[in-house]
Amino acid sequence: MMAVRHPTVVVTGASGAIGSATVEALQRRRVQVIELTRPSLDLSSMASVRATARELNRTAGHIDALLNIAATFTTRYQKTKEGFETMLATNHLGPFLLTNLLRDRLTPGGRVITVTAPSTTRVDMDRLQDRERFNAMHTFGATKAANLMFTFELARRAKRWEIRANAFYPGLVRSELMREAPRVVRLAARLVSRSPDRAAHDLADLALSPAHAGTTGWLFKGTRHIDAPRATQDIGQQSKLWQKTTDLVELEGGF
Ligand SMILES: NC(=O)c1ccc[n+]([C@@H]2O[C@H](COP(=O)([O-])OP(=O)(O)OC[C@H]3O[C@@H](n4cnc5c(N)ncnc54)[C@H](OP(=O)(O)O)[C@@H]3O)[C@@H](O)[C@H]2O)c1
Repeated sequence: MMAVRHPTVVVTGASGAIGSATVEALQRRRVQVIELTRPSLDLSSMASVRATARELNRTAGHIDALLNIAATFTTRYQKTKEGFETMLATNHLGPFLLTNLLRDRLTPGGRVITVTAPSTTRVDMDRLQDRERFNAMHTFGATKAANLMFTFELARRAKRWEIRANAFYPGLVRSELMREAPRVVRLAARLVSRSPDRAAHDLADLALSPAHAGTTGWLFKGTRHIDAPRATQDIGQQSKLWQKTTDLVELEGGF
């Protein structure tokens, strides 16, 4: 009898609201899930990202999908040991490096899905690193726009490896992500946010469904394709951001 090959899906932020619901949704579909949580992977530390990628490259035979779900929001300017602003490191640099370092473990037809939002904030890496010009909502918004630009550039670059890259907006979901945000923001969000189950179900679909086998370079809201903000669609800016990020994290190789 031929052994059934269950897909393997790597999930960052697996302890969070959307992450943990997604892990459950995937496990219900008999997927082998590799849950990355903070004790094993600190996305704000490029050393930790490299160590995790090394370990996965050694132990995971193949990866069918990588779900970049983790993110952080903080109201204070904080620098990581490596000298990066924390939200920039956790939300953009870490996922960028992890994805690139897993290139050779992703199977042809493999999928990278990055969870983000249709942010219109302009991404200026120098401003994001500048303590004097720090504004928490701006920085967070810029990292989410960077997730979109990263996805679109990745979709083009990863074609050679037949790897698909898409972004996913879950809508407003109940979680503790914005716990440091102003009270009014938290109250408003709580009023209109939903349980993470729907987003988890949709993410599992996008990761596994044959209907999306060839889909790449899209932003989804649920399982529906939506237009990304115009500023994130500029190919020149996407490629500049890719290069700048490559330099910052000292990536060699990658997509
Ligand atoms: N909630 C919404 O309405 C909404 C809307 C649009 C987009 N999103 C996106 O959805 C994703 C998940 O958010 P959520 O709402 O589920 O928030 P959440 O419950 O706060 O989950 C965030 C996850 O990221 C992890 N994380 C934070 N810093 C990390 C680090 N340095 N290294 C590794 N992991 C780290 C957290 O780990 P710990 O548990 O250890 O802190 C947690 O597992 C985010 O990308 C967010 O931007 C959410």
